Amino acid sequence: MLPNPKFELINVPSKSGEEIQYLFQGNLAEEIPKEEFEGKRETTALIRNGKQRLLFTGLGKKEKLNSFIVREATGVAIRQLLSIGAEEITLNLLGLEDHLASAVEGVLLASYLFDDFKPEDRKRQTNLKSVRLRVSNAKSEELQAALLRGKIFGESINQVRHLGNLPPNEVYPARMAEESIKLAMKWKLRCHIWDEKQLRKEGFGGILAVGKGSKCPPRFIELDYQGGKKNQKPIVVIGKAVTFDTGGISIKPAGGMEEMKYDKMGGCAVLGIMQVVARLKLPLNIIGLIPSAENMPSANAYRPSDLVKAYDGKVIEVLNTDAEGRVILADAIAYARIHLKPEWIVDFATLTGAMIVALGTRRAGVFSNQDSLRDLFCLAGHQSGDLVWPMPVGDEYDEQIRSEIACVKNTGGRDAGSCTAASFLKTFAEETPWIHVDIAGTATTAKALPCIEKGATGFGVHLTIAALESWIKK
Ligand code: BES
Ligand code: MN
Ligand code: ZN
Repeated sequence: MLPNPKFELINVPSKSGEEIQYLFQGNLAEEIPKEEFEGKRETTALIRNGKQRLLFTGLGKKEKLNSFIVREATGVAIRQLLSIGAEEITLNLLGLEDHLASAVEGVLLASYLFDDFKPEDRKRQTNLKSVRLRVSNAKSEELQAALLRGKIFGESINQVRHLGNLPPNEVYPARMAEESIKLAMKWKLRCHIWDEKQLRKEGFGGILAVGKGSKCPPRFIELDYQGGKKNQKPIVVIGKAVTFDTGGISIKPAGGMEEMKYDKMGGCAVLGIMQVVARLKLPLNIIGLIPSAENMPSANAYRPSDLVKAYDGKVIEVLNTDAEGRVILADAIAYARIHLKPEWIVDFATLTGAMIVALGTRRAGVFSNQDSLRDLFCLAGHQSGDLVWPMPVGDEYDEQIRSEIACVKNTGGRDAGSCTAASFLKTFAEETPWIHVDIAGTATTAKALPCIEKGATGFGVHLTIAALESWIKK
């Protein structure tokens, strides 16, 4: 169950302020000795009085305060309060009104737990019913809008995380399509799904090849949002959704293979992005594309040495069936370039293990065939808290993936694995401005973060919205 507490803005001073005064008939500084609580980030101090609890959550140094710190500190507080069974929470945001959206998002992110499949008696409590936000002016339209913004991000990112955390026997390509249809109906987007038959008819050779080995047939999903003028070029957001990546015939080792249920996180992020875009009513035309397949070994699976014709007719020499993400993305990028004639394309993909070697699990790599676009995303990373770092794109990598018998090989050897993967994708973008975000490391977290429990993170939603919002301004 996704958290859905009732939020309410309340004024200070107000009657409800009295409960805190009641808790502290004295000086706060005397109540908590400095040795116990200095207000450092990710630290808290809890004071009890009968059934009530007052929790202080550290924001760190005042000069360094920003929205992510407020989001984190809220998350830390909410997790602690939920763990002691809190159902009604009042958050004091007096003086922090500029960060209200982040606080609301922090509440929602921190109260989502992937507990649906646990036995009742081992479920962690999340009976959060209501959250009151104490502010200086509850009537302010700006604060009402910030509350809505926080809810939009929190709810959308939680949905991304939940879909990501679901196992591959629940979420297979057709289920990705169902989720997309549901989303489209709810937020009034146009949605088109290609099933196997249509994929074959229209020449999506990459998606079909990767999906061939599975009993769960592949899908290609398009979601259209029209917030701009009719003739305005769209921006296309693509996400890799391999619902499970065994490696196929080039099978992965057993240890850790279960992590490959997260190989759909690029596609899940696109669903989140489309939801936020629609709910924020951004004045742009935005199209989401999700190529989805399950990569399985079987008598019917594609194999190393297969020559696969992508949507634009370029032939891919398959050398390793585990380099499947780029093969399905080839079709999606080519389709976008040829049919949608976009302003630019961005793709999100858990594409290479080498990305984790290069940048770790908290920062994603961005690759682009256009410097200004790469800068737009690097800045967006800085602004949004979805951290990224620029990675190189150049002819030197093209050589590694040049095929002797076809257009490109789907692997370029051990060296610079993330860069040759990006180079492969660039082949299909051709001259269309394109950016690729390799989220192999950032899509999940192995240990809980301040707002996000172990599992899918929802990385990419904030990044893309920040990039789109600064694109609108320029
Ligand atoms: N989905 C994986 C990449 C991945 C690995 C994501 C670990 C998250 C964690 C991708 O399909 C893959 O298998 N890539 C191969 C490419 C290689 C065969 C060229 C890899 O990274 O080993
Ligand atoms: Mn793979
Ligand atoms: Zn994969």
